Amino acid sequence: MKHILLGDLEVSRIGLGAMGMSHGYTGAGTDEAESVRTLHRALELGVTFIDTAEIYGPYTNEELLGRALRGRRDQVVLATKFGLVSHGGAGPWNLDSGPANIRVAVEGSLKRLDTDRIDLYYQHRVDPNTPIEDTVGALADLVTQGKIRAIGLSEAGPETIRRAHAVHPVTAVQSEYSLWTRGLEERVLPVLRELGIGLVPFSPLGRGFLTGKVRSTDGFAEDDFRRGNPRFTGENFQRNLRIADEVEAVAAEAGATPAQVALAWLLAQGDDIAPIPGTKRVSRVEENTAADGVRLTPRQIDRLSSLPPAAGDTHPESGLRMMER
Ligand SMILES: NC(=O)c1ccc[n+]([C@@H]2O[C@H](COP(=O)([O-])OP(=O)(O)OC[C@H]3O[C@@H](n4cnc5c(N)ncnc54)[C@H](OP(=O)(O)O)[C@@H]3O)[C@@H](O)[C@H]2O)c1
Repeated sequence: MKHILLGDLEVSRIGLGAMGMSHGYTGAGTDEAESVRTLHRALELGVTFIDTAEIYGPYTNEELLGRALRGRRDQVVLATKFGLVSHGGAGPWNLDSGPANIRVAVEGSLKRLDTDRIDLYYQHRVDPNTPIEDTVGALADLVTQGKIRAIGLSEAGPETIRRAHAVHPVTAVQSEYSLWTRGLEERVLPVLRELGIGLVPFSPLGRGFLTGKVRSTDGFAEDDFRRGNPRFTGENFQRNLRIADEVEAVAAEAGATPAQVALAWLLAQGDDIAPIPGTKRVSRVEENTAADGVRLTPRQIDRLSSLPPAAGDTHPESGLRMMER
């Protein structure tokens, strides 16, 4: 597995998103043994970059990682996130990046992850009620104390990124980026490159859609969050299938799977990009990790870059409100 630098943090260029093991997707939280095997298999295959957040569960995903990585902690660059749980009383799904909340959040994450340091600590969403300078100031104190090694932001816009980076170097920005979600190419990516900040694409498989395995939403559990996602609903879903079909066609030509092609396209966008595909299954972590060895031709990359735009927003309105666009 090739390694790259996000800022000055070295990671495997394909990571593993652990969220779906506990949260959000059909089957989450139902098979801890397979989730643990998946994490261990990822490490065997050379994946060093593991992603979670306190809001996943909430809390249960960090707890799972704490158990699964016991005795293996030093093999992993462990990334987690704060800011979507307000510990002052309002609770989960309330934005709070105030310094006091960060100081409480970090202790909880360290305990659940069963570790003495977090390698990359992201603000999960920008908090309009807290100046980013105050947030990053509190994070810089945690760096000094050795509780976190590096600072990240998620779904932040160019101005916030610049202001944050002026207080303390930002190592990585984690935002949605994939064949069907390319909004950050125009304004965010150039700023990241100017400032030497890495990009961590989340949902790089389009929440499973780009793998071609999701041909209907009938099998989704009632609480699968894709049921409320505009791209997976009604006519949008049907229209978006032509995107999955095109990815499948390129995959057939490249002798790879659609998931591998979606990841290889991201890797071809630069050596400052480390996607974190999510899975809770050993077979899929093997498949996704093997995308490190897939080389697309310039023609195949062009064809993928010219896919028709997706129908529907990436999130329902409540989610979009929390993102800087
Ligand atoms: N910063 C943020 O706001 C934010 C938001 C969302 C996600 N994330 C992070 O990004 C990570 C990845 O994103 P994501 O999990 O939302 O989306 P994703 O990686 O695009 O897709 C995950 C979905 O695809 C399925 N899948 C994975 N590999 C597959 C394969 N080879 N073939 C067919 N299906 C496959 C998974 O099912 P199985 O698990 O059943 O294999 C799951 O349903 C998350 O785990 C999380 O850590 C961050």
